[in-house]
Amino acid sequence: MSSIRPSTPSARACATELASLLGARARDFALEWVECCDSTNARLVDAPPADDGRVHVLVADRQTAGRGRRGRQWLSWEGASLTFSLLWRFAPGTPAPAGLSLAAGLALARALEQLGVEGVQLKWPNDVLVHGEKLAGILVELLPVRGRPPAAVIGIGLNLRLPADAAIPDQAGVTDLAAALGGEPPSRPVLLAAILGEFHRLFDTYAAAGFPALRGAWEQRNAFAELPVAVRGESATLQGTCAGVDDDGALLLRTGDGVQRVLAGDVSLRPLLDGSR
Ligand code: ATP
Ligand code: BTN
Repeated sequence: MSSIRPSTPSARACATELASLLGARARDFALEWVECCDSTNARLVDAPPADDGRVHVLVADRQTAGRGRRGRQWLSWEGASLTFSLLWRFAPGTPAPAGLSLAAGLALARALEQLGVEGVQLKWPNDVLVHGEKLAGILVELLPVRGRPPAAVIGIGLNLRLPADAAIPDQAGVTDLAAALGGEPPSRPVLLAAILGEFHRLFDTYAAAGFPALRGAWEQRNAFAELPVAVRGESATLQGTCAGVDDDGALLLRTGDGVQRVLAGDVSLRPLLDGSR
């Protein structure tokens, strides 16, 4: 278990700038910006802060053990990546959080579009692409809470400027915000203010109406809509055409045997012609 290395003056200045950019919405977030930790998701999952009614946000300048789904690694570089997590507690009575990682992807996509990024696409269940290349990943982990709906830790890693020698394993194409915008990306406080603003709106919609209210907007950005795909599981691969997602955020795959519903979990979606992974 690793420690959090707490704020430096520059991390504190970033947090102060972020709070001021959030304006009145800042009161709904508890912001913590640290110099270094193993993984912002791990910190919030392993030691969730007490519930004070706010959404806790942990930002790290540097992660030493960033994680993706199913034990995979998320690579980031100090000053060249945005890595943070939110801890969101659902109100009592809220149903199980279906489609949450898709909803989070949509909030991130909207924030990027608002900042001028074109060609933003969503890859089921948890990636944000720009023109087919991975810009950001989202990792949602649920925390059981006794007698209440689970809380969710939503972690986001976004490439700002990939080092020229970045070697990212098992990923067909990666990109960064500098390439997507064709110039210097906004500062991390400015980016986070846009992203948290979108999450703020999304939490309201999602809490009131769930993923069905967001499904159409997700499908508009579906990177593989009506394209041939393979869904690889531990022991089998399904092939078909991507027919979108259902109200629970499950992938719909049109196959010779009809439309099959695939739950995120132990499966990975790939374009059918990509035989490399
Ligand atoms: P899946 O479709 O199963 O989600 P995935 O390749 O997107 O597959 P994830 O667990 O979502 O897998 O993300 C982790 C993967 O992301 C790593 O295995 C690596 O290929 C890729 N990755 C790691 N760091 C970065 C990064 N900074 N930018 C883009 N991709 C990265
Ligand atoms: C993925 O593509 O699998 C998701 C990657 C998520 C990476 C972010 S970086 C901030 C947070 N902390 C982590 O360890 N992971 C998430």
